[in-house]
Amino acid sequence: MKKGAVILAAGSGKRMKSEKSKVCCEVLFKPMILWVLDSLKKAGIDEEDICVIISNEDNGVAQLLPANVKTAVQKEKLGTGHAVLMAEEFIGDEIKKGISYIGVFCGDAPFINPEDLEKSFEKLSSSSYDMAVLTANLDDGESYGRIKRAGDRVTAIVEKKNCTAWELEIKEVNSGAYWFKASFLLENLRRLQKNALTGEYYLTDMCEIAENGKNKAMGFACADKKAVLGANTREQLARLNEIARDAVLSMHYENGVSIPIKDGVIISPDVKIGENSEILPNTIVKGRSIIGKGNVIGPNSCIDNSIVGDNNIIEQTKISDSTIGNECKIGPFTQLRPNSHIGDRVKIGNFVEVKNSTVGEKTSFAHLTYIGDSDFGSHINVGCGVVTVNYDGVKKYRTKVEDNAFIGCNSNLIAPVTVKKGAYVAAASTVTDDIEEDALAIGRARLVIKPKGALKHRKK
Ligand code: UD1
Ligand code: CA
Repeated sequence: MKKGAVILAAGSGKRMKSEKSKVCCEVLFKPMILWVLDSLKKAGIDEEDICVIISNEDNGVAQLLPANVKTAVQKEKLGTGHAVLMAEEFIGDEIKKGISYIGVFCGDAPFINPEDLEKSFEKLSSSSYDMAVLTANLDDGESYGRIKRAGDRVTAIVEKKNCTAWELEIKEVNSGAYWFKASFLLENLRRLQKNALTGEYYLTDMCEIAENGKNKAMGFACADKKAVLGANTREQLARLNEIARDAVLSMHYENGVSIPIKDGVIISPDVKIGENSEILPNTIVKGRSIIGKGNVIGPNSCIDNSIVGDNNIIEQTKISDSTIGNECKIGPFTQLRPNSHIGDRVKIGNFVEVKNSTVGEKTSFAHLTYIGDSDFGSHINVGCGVVTVNYDGVKKYRTKVEDNAFIGCNSNLIAPVTVKKGAYVAAASTVTDDIEEDALAIGRARLVIKPKGALKHRKK
């Protein structure tokens, strides 16, 4: 059955003391709102059936959303009930499209999982209830809304600040995630009253509206207690990071990845790593990186949004938005900047920077080299200290070096320039013109040796 969703994300980051909305705060380098969005998609909700409630201030949320996701603006922050009201038109349109259930989710509670979403939806849609509240039983209810039950029914949700002493003892709390019959939601949203204590419209009051109506609200206790965890403060955000980090590392252990010491190892939730790869301390793998099998990565490395093949050794290296083949040796102290594409069995050693370049099989840059905006073929040896001079202060140009060439130490290749197949550039040359296949180029001042010249110099 098709379903729609509203994600609440218009709240300010007041308790975070952040200029950006708190839903932009990252758990394992992924903004919380994108965790929620991905879970909804995994639970079978299409992007065009999702409406995110955003603030009228430019606080970073809109830029994070995929183009197909809809948005509605909440100008005044009058609470979660008022926020959903901003999606009134969206809900009406969804009903016209034939969608009969709408979920409402908090953008600051990232661990809502597709399994609990699907199970709770099944339960509600095969019942006569008007809504379902997703809950969890915690040892300490903390700042979450307390669930008041009568059997399967949730009769009310009481916010912590409104709780009596005995209500504070309730262990079952509100995750802030709900399913509603779309028609019930639309018909009753405007019946929410301002809370006397805070002046806000609480979405949680929908439970009492349902309880006083015919079909009531049901409670669904999530199998995964993490589902409720949200972050209102930086400290809570750090706790979510810890919890998510352990869960992600456990998944990689299960998959046969070796992380012998966890210290400083942070892997983002969307990263994939193949069997028998080993991740050493202080290594961060993030974005949509895909790491193959049998690699040794780290220590002290960061791989962002990059694809790494099999059996590579990558040590003390930073790699962003790039691809690496198989059996390469990279590092220590190497940087691969965006759009670098490295072939198989390449060696890139210490203090080498590569940017926006392609490198063919078995080419080697062993030390102290800058390769920018370049295309290097295969089986090329690049000596220590070579620089591709890609920028004339106004424009950038490409350097091309073809298969089996040899670039001697400390040479500058002044782009645009091509070194053709098998050509040999003598050490310390400044190459300003294209070099023919198999040619030898020497571009440096001839060495002059004056016998006993040093003695005369010293006498001066
Ligand atoms: C809310 C629930 C609480 C639940 C908790 C779970 C209410 C009244 N309380 O409390 O029962 O245990 O979530 O995390 O609903 N937002 C808006 N516009 C607003 C206010 C909030 O879009 O005017 C958004 C926020 O950006 C946030 C979400 O709604 O993503 C929840 O708001 P928040 O203020 O964090 O509610 P809690 O106090 O955590
Ligand atoms: Ca919250």
